[in-house]
Amino acid sequence: MPGHLAIIMDGNGRWARQKNLPRSEGHNQGTKTARAIVEESRRLGIPHLTLYAFSKENWARPKEEVSFLFSLLSRFLQKELQSLIKQDIRLNILGEPGDLPLATRKVLEHACTKTKTNKSMTLNLALNYSGRCEIIRACRLIVQKGLDPDRITEEGFKDFLYTAGQPDPDLIIRTSGELRISNYLLYQCAYSELYFTKTLWPDFTPQELWRALEDYAHRQRRLGRVEPA
Ligand code: FPP
Repeated sequence: MPGHLAIIMDGNGRWARQKNLPRSEGHNQGTKTARAIVEESRRLGIPHLTLYAFSKENWARPKEEVSFLFSLLSRFLQKELQSLIKQDIRLNILGEPGDLPLATRKVLEHACTKTKTNKSMTLNLALNYSGRCEIIRACRLIVQKGLDPDRITEEGFKDFLYTAGQPDPDLIIRTSGELRISNYLLYQCAYSELYFTKTLWPDFTPQELWRALEDYAHRQRRLGRVEPA
């Protein structure tokens, strides 16, 4: 089982288009998938799950879609908060929530506070997130702290990332057939196993999650070392 599973939830728009529905319907359905996958990951004992909910690049979408996504996220968190608490899941944000609408920020802050001592799983939502920005932010923090350049190490650098204290993702899943990393966890993904499926996010089921985990379980992770004889 991966210690950290990260997912790029892609294909909501195409799912809706295939069904002649508005894109918002794809996002609605995508939220249901997110709920099911969080629950299943928790049930399987995956300690860290990261979902790519909104990238910095996503601001370029039509204004109505962006505001729909934030209101959907707020409603989702309000609706799911009790369930997160019951499942002992800690909610954590990766990214810059400061730029989000105030109402969404409040819901996020409330949910993070209410779940901050939960232990069974950390659910990271990457929100207004960019991997490159995360690395630059880490460099700024290091400079501000006045760290001795000779003492900056690969491991130590991680303390300045949003994921400080968490393991790197062992497995990254991307749905919808796109074969890209799209600025996701760029520092942390150095040795991640990648799993791509053509399934669109709204159609991604717990069964398909098992398939990905099964595939991952058969991978030989050499982490740059030579294959044993
Ligand atoms: C990709 O579909 C999905 C997103 C832009 C992220 C939003 C995710 C959700 C609404 C799922 C719910 C998540 C949470 C945490 C409540 P797309 O619009 O890029 O699809 P397309 O590439 O087919 O247009």
